[in-house]
Amino acid sequence: MSTEKTSGVAQTTNIRNPLHAIAWWRHDFHRMFSARVREAQLGFRHTWYLGALTLGTFTIQVGTGLLLMLYYHPSIPQGYADMKDLEFVVSSGAMLRSLHRWSAHAMVFLVFVHMAKVFYRRAYRPPRELSWVVGVFLLLATLLLSYTGYLLPWDQLSYWGTTVGASIISSMPIIGAKLRFYLLGGHTVNANALLRFYVLHTMIFPLVVIGLIAVHLWRLHQDGGMYEPDEQGKPILPDHIPAEDELFRGVENEKTLSYRELLFREITGIEALAVVLFTMALIWKAPLDELANPLHTPAVAKAPWYFTGLQELLHYFPPFVAGVILPGLIVSGLFIIPFVPWFDGVTTSDMCRWVRSKTARSLTIVVALMALSALLIHMHAWDAMLPLWIVVVFLCTSSGASKGSSGLRSWLSSRSFSFWIMTLFLMEAVVLASVGTFFRGAGWSWVWPWRG
Ligand code: HEM
Repeated sequence: MSTEKTSGVAQTTNIRNPLHAIAWWRHDFHRMFSARVREAQLGFRHTWYLGALTLGTFTIQVGTGLLLMLYYHPSIPQGYADMKDLEFVVSSGAMLRSLHRWSAHAMVFLVFVHMAKVFYRRAYRPPRELSWVVGVFLLLATLLLSYTGYLLPWDQLSYWGTTVGASIISSMPIIGAKLRFYLLGGHTVNANALLRFYVLHTMIFPLVVIGLIAVHLWRLHQDGGMYEPDEQGKPILPDHIPAEDELFRGVENEKTLSYRELLFREITGIEALAVVLFTMALIWKAPLDELANPLHTPAVAKAPWYFTGLQELLHYFPPFVAGVILPGLIVSGLFIIPFVPWFDGVTTSDMCRWVRSKTARSLTIVVALMALSALLIHMHAWDAMLPLWIVVVFLCTSSGASKGSSGLRSWLSSRSFSFWIMTLFLMEAVVLASVGTFFRGAGWSWVWPWRG
C-alpha cells in the first residue's frame, strides 16, 4: 500500500494492484474531461466545432508529415528530386503530399475562422483571457509552421516565396538583419536555410504547437468548458468544484460530461473534414514548379495565400511599415483584446468620464478611420480602402439609431469598439489576400484572372 497526495488531500491507493491502478487512471481521465457543462453549452452553434476541426487538421498534418519524412532529404537538389519521386515513383506519394498540403491550408484557414468565431461570441472575456492569449500564440505558430514548410519542395515557387518572406524579416530595425541571418544560416536562401527550415518545420514548431494546444485545452477545461453568457451577458462560471472526498462520486453525479457528448460529435466532424481533404488530395495535386534557380527571378514571386495580403501591403508601403509596424500593431491588438474592457464597450465607474462616454468612443473611431483613409489615399491603396469605406458606411448607418429603434441599425449601434476593429481587420485580410492571390501578375501589376 502506498499513500499518494492528490490536490492536497491524502488518497490511499494500491498501485501494485493493476485493477486499482486502471480505476485510478480512469477516474483521472474522467476528471480531465469532465468539465461540468450544461447541455446548452455543447451546441454546435457556439463554436461550429472550429477549434476541434483545427485540431483535426493538425493531426492529419502530423500523420502525413511523419510519412513524408520517410522519403524526404533536406538537401539540394535531393529535396526536389524526392518531391518528384513522391509524385511519380512512390505508391500514393502524390496523394500523401497533396493531403499534407491541403490540410496545411485548411489549418491556417480554420485557425483564422475559429479566432473570429471566438471573438464575435466574446468568448475571450474573463475567465478565458489565457485561452485567448495562448490562442494568439497558436495562430502565430501555425503561420510559422506553414511558412517553414513552404521552402521544403525547393522549387521556384517555394524558393522565391521564402526569399520574399526573409526580406520582410530583414526590414525590422536593429535585429532584422541578424534575425534573417540566423534563420537562413547565411545571407541567402541556401542549403543551410533548407536544413534550418526542415528542423523548424518538423521538430520545433510542431512541438511548440502541441504544447500550446495542451495548455489551450487544459485552460478551457479549467474555465468550465465552452463560453456561455447568462441573461445579463455575463459568462457562466463553473458553479461546482467537487470536494476531494467527492472526487469519485462527483464524476457519476455530474449532469453532463462534456467529453461523452462533445467528443463523439467533434470526432464525427473531424472525420467528415478528413474525407473532404482526402477527396481534394485525390482530385487536385499539390503544385510543384521547376527546380529552384537563384539566378532566375520569376515574373511574379508570390508567398502562400495567407501572406499575399502582406505582400500587397508591401506594394504600397515601405517594408518596415508593411512588414513590421502593421503586423506588429495587429498582433499586439489581438493580445490585448481581453484586457481592455473599454474596447469591449464595458465601462466601470472608476474610469474617467471621457473614457466612459459613448460619444468619445465614436469620436475615436471616426478620427482613426479618417487618418487611415488619408494615409491610404496618399499611397493609392484603393483595394485597402474598400473595407474601410464599407465599415464607414455601416458606422454612419448606425450613428442615427435611437434607443427605441430596432433591426440592423440598433444592432450595429450597440457594437463595441473592438467589434469594428476586428471586422475591419478581417475584411482587410480577405480583400488584400484575394487581390494578392488572384489579381496580381508580373511586377505585381494588376491582372484580371480570366485574362491570365
Ligand atoms: C492550432 C490552433 C488552435 C486549436 C487546435 C484550438 C483548439 C480549440 C478547441 C478544441 C476549443 C474548444 C471549442 C471548439 O471546438 O471550438 C477551443 C476553444 C477556444 N479557443 Fe482555440 N484553438 C486554436 C487556436 C485559437 C486561436 C487562434 C484563438 C484566439 C486568438 C483561440 C481561442 C479560443 C478560446 C477563447 C476558446 C474558448 C471558446 C469558448 O469558450 O467558447 N484558439 N480551441
